[in-house]
Amino acid sequence: MKAADLFDVRDLVTVVTGGASGIGLAYAEAMADNGANVILFDLDQTRLDAETKRLGARSVRADVTDREALNRAFDETVRDMGRLDVVFANAGIGGGPGFLTLDGKRNDERAFEKLEPDYWDRIFKLDATALFWTIQAAARHMKAGKGGRIIVTSSISATKTESMVGAPYVAAKAAAAQLVRQAALELAAYNILVNAIAPGPFVTNISGGRLKDEGVQEALAKFCPLNRLGFSDDIQGLALFLASPASKYMTGASLTVDGGVTLGYLG
Ligand SMILES: NC(=O)c1ccc[n+]([C@@H]2O[C@H](COP(=O)([O-])OP(=O)(O)OC[C@H]3O[C@@H](n4cnc5c(N)ncnc54)[C@H](O)[C@@H]3O)[C@@H](O)[C@H]2O)c1
Repeated sequence: MKAADLFDVRDLVTVVTGGASGIGLAYAEAMADNGANVILFDLDQTRLDAETKRLGARSVRADVTDREALNRAFDETVRDMGRLDVVFANAGIGGGPGFLTLDGKRNDERAFEKLEPDYWDRIFKLDATALFWTIQAAARHMKAGKGGRIIVTSSISATKTESMVGAPYVAAKAAAAQLVRQAALELAAYNILVNAIAPGPFVTNISGGRLKDEGVQEALAKFCPLNRLGFSDDIQGLALFLASPASKYMTGASLTVDGGVTLGYLG
């Protein structure tokens, strides 16, 4: 089997939520560069305009936490494109600082008992509830077709504790990871494969672009055996793998891409 056939994603109708920036944009670029028909769903119209043009993609401005708008975006996409093959359910927001600062001191403002209810609600609405709705919409359209691929961006926070990320984020990503497994079990009979990518720290616009700061990168790289954070091109291979025939016997899996962070601290 040739690599070109194994990783063939040509003509696949591919929706990427949160596709105008960061990890979603990296997926979208890998798919578009290899001949897929990519549709970006995102809130940010300015970025959508720029990236849609650059990738030769299409886009829909949609807030995935608005269930009606989300369903409308999927329905219009399928009406225009004729089918839905791949969905990267990726839109998400960061968890904000945790109970320790980067230099290992207690961050009292972020103590467990001080976290506000609306912070919990905001994180869960996007990272868990909207993900559930996205998988529902994808399943509805893929069942009507010949099946498809749903690829969820979870996080290494789904399975490990975090001192520098807020508790609601960790809990919401754990919910996302288990949703992937449950959806995979139910949807396998319809040839809909559901898998997760669990990234470690990637330099994106998340949390106001905090990880773009060189000081933050240097501090966090110490927790990473490969001694650096991740960038767009570090995740694109997994996007192609999970969307293509190369992974056709995989479902319910979670693939970690974290430069070794989950192996443990070297210091
Ligand atoms: N960057 C990391 O270190 C990291 C690590 C693990 C997991 N993740 C996960 O990766 C995913 C993507 O994050 P990123 O780092 O690329 O961040 P990012 O901020 O660069 O990109 C997120 C995109 O989602 C869009 N978005 C946010 N809310 C939305 C909404 N309600 N509706 C539609 N679009 C919305 C934003 O406009 C943005 O374009 C998230 O689910 C995040 O939790 C990121």
